[in-house]
Amino acid sequence: MYRINIASVWDFRARFYDFCEASDLRRGPSKKALFRGMRGRVLFVGVGTGVDIPHFPPGQTIIAIDISDKMLIKACPRARAYPGRVVLLRADARNLKFPDASFDTVVTSCTMCSVPDPVRAFREFSRVLRPSGRLLMFEHVRSRNRMLGLSLDMMTLWTRLSGTEMNRDTLSNARKAGFLVTSVASVFLDIILAIRATKTLAAEGEIPFHAPGRTGTLLKESKSDGQFVDTRRGLTDCARSSAVVTLA
Ligand SMILES: C[S@@+](CC[C@H](N)C(=O)[O-])C[C@H]1O[C@@H](n2cnc3c(N)ncnc32)[C@H](O)[C@@H]1O
Repeated sequence: MYRINIASVWDFRARFYDFCEASDLRRGPSKKALFRGMRGRVLFVGVGTGVDIPHFPPGQTIIAIDISDKMLIKACPRARAYPGRVVLLRADARNLKFPDASFDTVVTSCTMCSVPDPVRAFREFSRVLRPSGRLLMFEHVRSRNRMLGLSLDMMTLWTRLSGTEMNRDTLSNARKAGFLVTSVASVFLDIILAIRATKTLAAEGEIPFHAPGRTGTLLKESKSDGQFVDTRRGLTDCARSSAVVTLA
């Protein structure tokens, strides 16, 4: 059994992330098409250095979370450049500090391979989604092809040491948390998928709806300009159109 501090791992990877992994190549158009489904109050989970942000539909207000401070800091310029509002927030997908039913759409991109205990995170997504809210995922998963599946199993032996599992069954994990998968589109073979799902009534029954301490003020607002800022860390350079924020 291995144990890693996931935030530290991603803080470390933030330094090289854009150089190694931010290439869009042919994935950009698929992300754009999927993200067009963002509606209402949007929670984006695992924003990383913000490589997904240019593919967001314009004019939305999006709360974008990540467990890594260093990733969020790198995401600031892309958040600022977004023609709408992206609020960057440090948070753990497995323990969201948002009230129940506070979002219409939850979105992930190449993140459910990284979050430890993904089913717990999916249960949190279900809790914070309104009834019939949508889940949009751009994710890579284990292939059903025997040889490809085994290759991904082998790769995971070392990639998991840096926080990524290449052989997750993300569709089953979402279903275990009560999501109804409504469409799965191939982006690359059966490995990179664009997935649409909705929160089902069954899921609502399974998940405790009222958790004391989860309600309350979501964001701390700076007195001067009404923007959301992390006053504790002084990341005010992000504060013009978007910001890193803490829970109040
Ligand atoms: C492979 S990166 C993907 C980033 C971005 N979506 C992209 O496609 O480039 C995975 C991201 O998930 C974040 N992450 C991992 N575990 C998390 C957790 N428990 N809660 C929130 N974010 C997490 C990592 O910090 C990292 O930025």
